[in-house]
Amino acid sequence: MFVSLRVFGRSRELGSGKHAFNEGRYPLGMVTNPVVFQLRIEPQGWVCPVPAGVSIWKAARRAGIRLPSSCLNGTCRTCLCRLISGQVVYSIEWPGVSVDEREAGWILPCVARPISDVVIESPSALRELGIGGGG
Ligand code: FES
Repeated sequence: MFVSLRVFGRSRELGSGKHAFNEGRYPLGMVTNPVVFQLRIEPQGWVCPVPAGVSIWKAARRAGIRLPSSCLNGTCRTCLCRLISGQVVYSIEWPGVSVDEREAGWILPCVARPISDVVIESPSALRELGIGGGG
């Protein structure tokens, strides 16, 4: 069984190497199974797991890493950061990033859910003392 998804990211499957949305059909298991992806936050090099269906922001928070945030619903853009590699889907219909920003790799981690291992750039991320971030 397959599901239709709107995927954002940069990969060989998406063609030119540019960041772009790609409408596609993906195996249901890829979306619903208890898959865990890896999130790496640069330049700190912190690593943490992201269960499928969980936003980047929430997974980082669970690992004791605070990414910038305010609204947590994809509208304020406080969390805006670069997706260096990997692919994400959004939990809202149209996240608040422009076409140019999306093509340059900008994402909103509060509503972006990885469907592969991802690397983001968030220089202002903070790590809570005494809580492991896995990396
Ligand atoms: S925290 Fe507001 S858009 Fe992500």
